[in-house]
Amino acid sequence: MSDARGGMDATKSRRPGPYLGAAVRIDQIEADARLAEAVLRDCASLTPEIDMKWDALQPGPGDWRTGPADGLVAFARRHGLEVRGHTLLWDQSTPAWAKARLERAPGDWKIVADYFQAVLGRYGDAVSEWDVVNEPIDSEAPDGLRATVFQKAYGPTYIERALHEARAHAPNARLVLNDYGFDYDNPVEHQRRAAFLRLLEQLKTSGAPLDGVGVQAHLDLSKGPLKREILAPFFTRIADLGLSIAITELDVKEDGRRGGVAERDRKVADHVQAYLDIALDQPSVTGLTTWGLSDRHSWLQKQPLHPSANPTGMNRGLPYDGALEPKPVYWTIQQAVSGAKGPSTLTSR
Ligand code: G3I
Repeated sequence: MSDARGGMDATKSRRPGPYLGAAVRIDQIEADARLAEAVLRDCASLTPEIDMKWDALQPGPGDWRTGPADGLVAFARRHGLEVRGHTLLWDQSTPAWAKARLERAPGDWKIVADYFQAVLGRYGDAVSEWDVVNEPIDSEAPDGLRATVFQKAYGPTYIERALHEARAHAPNARLVLNDYGFDYDNPVEHQRRAAFLRLLEQLKTSGAPLDGVGVQAHLDLSKGPLKREILAPFFTRIADLGLSIAITELDVKEDGRRGGVAERDRKVADHVQAYLDIALDQPSVTGLTTWGLSDRHSWLQKQPLHPSANPTGMNRGLPYDGALEPKPVYWTIQQAVSGAKGPSTLTSR
């Protein structure tokens, strides 16, 4: 099949292919040889699913736990893979002690500066792209910005400051804002797209060192069809700002989990196909990362089900099933990334 860069047949590429990557955990890779094989077969880029978040790296003020992140970086180095750094500032993964300090001393930037210096100093050479701020958008906030602990401590310019701080410690990395909820034709996602674009425009105008965006793409079959007339202009507006776009967390939440497995898998694959047909037409899309490889490890297994859903069994929204067997969506992704067309490439391994 493909080489380790995910290309099935480079000669058929529509352009120098976007990379393929996955979110992973080093403990899972080490515990499961089939997962490790899949990672090495399919991925050019790895994103730590959990281990580079602040609460994982520094659960207490002097308590650094870099083992798993170091392990993942070493694995990536050994195999020549890129690492996406996920993530420096995310309200949800900020440890309680840091939140308490930010609340006690709003305006004191030292805690962020020290953290960036430590993390970017340690992983600076190994990480090619950083999600500097994760999930800053809230469509319901008057200014479109989520009222995070950072927003409350520093005001809305915290994003710009974070980008400058990251640039000071990681001069060569690509600096990115990563967010979700941009995919469907509904009022909330319209507002989210508008708020995100406003933020990107402001950052570019102010000269912030922003290189790209991460579009998470947690797709959801219950949210209706994916529409080119909605998505394509969104990608174009970002590209027109001179920013690169990475699809950073692709997966699919099933609606009912009902019907036969073949039918469910076809629905998931068709949905991803529809998404990638639109997204990969935008030349500024540099890469595609799935949020995990196997359904067995998917965060979606922990999510509340849709009210009408079959409560048993797994969500089947990632390239491999729970037994690490590739599903139709695996081939959809391979074909989309390589540009290869047609059923002749749908041979099994
Ligand atoms: O490993 C501990 C376990 O020891 C403990 O008993 C258990 C009790 O809750 O928690 C376990 O850790 C959990 C970990 O997942 C592993 O399952 C954490 O509580 C839980 O918070 C963590 O969730 C992760 C979440 O981010 C928060 O870091 C998800 O796996 C991960 O998929 C999710 O990823 C996020 C992206 O970073 C940002 N975009 C959305 C995406 C999905 O929520």
